[in-house]
Amino acid sequence: MEQPPEVKLAPHRGRLGILTPGLGAVSTTFIAGVMSVRRGLARPFGSLSQMGTVRLGKRTDHRVPTIKELVGLPELDDLVFGAWDLFEDNAYEAALNAGALSKEDLDKVREELEQIKPMKAVFDKSYVRKLDGTWVKSGGTKWDKAQMLIEDMEGFKARHDLDRLVVVWCASTEVYLQPSEVHASLEAFEAGLKADDPAIAPSMIYAYAALKLGIPFANGAPNLTTDISALQELARATGAPLSGKDFKTGQTLMKTILAPGLKARLLGIAGWFSTNILGNRDGEVLDDPDSFKTKEESKLGVLDYILQPDVYPGLYKDLYHKVRINYYPPRGDNKEGWDSIDIFGWLGYPMQIKINFLCRDSILAAPIVLDLALFMDLAKRAGFGGIQEWLSFYFKSPMTLPELYPEHDLFIQLMKLKNTLRYIVGEDQITHLGADYYEYYR
Ligand SMILES: NC(=O)c1ccc[n+]([C@@H]2O[C@H](COP(=O)([O-])OP(=O)(O)OC[C@H]3O[C@@H](n4cnc5c(N)ncnc54)[C@H](O)[C@@H]3O)[C@@H](O)[C@H]2O)c1
Repeated sequence: MEQPPEVKLAPHRGRLGILTPGLGAVSTTFIAGVMSVRRGLARPFGSLSQMGTVRLGKRTDHRVPTIKELVGLPELDDLVFGAWDLFEDNAYEAALNAGALSKEDLDKVREELEQIKPMKAVFDKSYVRKLDGTWVKSGGTKWDKAQMLIEDMEGFKARHDLDRLVVVWCASTEVYLQPSEVHASLEAFEAGLKADDPAIAPSMIYAYAALKLGIPFANGAPNLTTDISALQELARATGAPLSGKDFKTGQTLMKTILAPGLKARLLGIAGWFSTNILGNRDGEVLDDPDSFKTKEESKLGVLDYILQPDVYPGLYKDLYHKVRINYYPPRGDNKEGWDSIDIFGWLGYPMQIKINFLCRDSILAAPIVLDLALFMDLAKRAGFGGIQEWLSFYFKSPMTLPELYPEHDLFIQLMKLKNTLRYIVGEDQITHLGADYYEYYR
């Protein structure tokens, strides 16, 4: 079938640089993981870009290419990693410190990891109060810092002889922030950078630098960052893809798997109590109430959108939803989450569901970083500038145009992602109607 005229997919060539603000648990688990996979030491479980397939055409056609073959993604050997952090540790030291992967596994890729030394961060303690680092850019206004980041990106690309770059925010969660005047337009934002406006967060400065260069930017944390008109305007102007926010892992992943199922069967929900214990640096940062508020907002929205209490008031209007995160150092990166769900069925009879998820945060997040980097690069190759709603699958708070509500149902998100891949290569959409198999439809 012919490719639709509006999508012209540029072939990928050369090497792709993946830059992460933040060289902590998630980013080092991602980087060390890719290094292990490309040496044949491990397998990329959890990654659609590496293991996923897409059905094409009719069920009787038996055409199921891998996503990689379908759209032509870069090989893992063609990926080059870089990062910024406010601690000077190289990726090996940072990974050991994070404790998500064993020393034994890290030692197998130690030399390669040690080559990755973070660039100095743009950091402001008022945005992440629990951290104090020394490896930070100093002097100048926020505008000057943005120029330094632009130089970092251009320098990294030239040094490693790269064809393209993507930036994925893997740094700590910043304190809760609401959009204000300085975020309302690109003009106001650039004036704010020059005037060192306190409402411009470090994550916004990284995003500004990337988008200014037309580089795709994905936001893995719940910070406001690119959810502001100014940066969306910039992304449209430079044709840079934009996506966010907050990687969908752990408890929220479970929620968006389970809630659509309960709703499909029209089972009511009276309450959903979620609590976690977590002991890594992310948990420590989230111990600050203002950083937690950013996370809480991101986690709470999910059920409302999936369950549509306005459409089903009798089932979901009175749902009591509570989310707690508790910093508990002995558990390290191995989070434990409990969900206690009070549901009701036929004639209002109550039932309960208990989930105890002993998960590994960074193990769930690392393949998301890889997929996002490759799919954001694909979006750029396909000429999709601005918000990439088709990547909602990966986020707790998916970005959409202001007039749209986000889609949180994991299965709808997956269908949207795969249909977008079909669309990019000019294949038919799959509607699951299946009418043409049965005579009585004719
Ligand atoms: N692991 C998950 O499952 C998951 C899920 C959703 C979102 N996230 C988010 O991803 C982010 C990373 O998580 P993590 O577990 O790797 O945390 P982490 O604390 O291990 O790593 C974050 C790193 O970012 C650095 N940092 C902070 N501010 C920075 C700045 N301005 N510039 C550069 N570096 C900066 C910190 O020094 C730290 O090394 C967090 O915001 C977290 O909330 C993680």
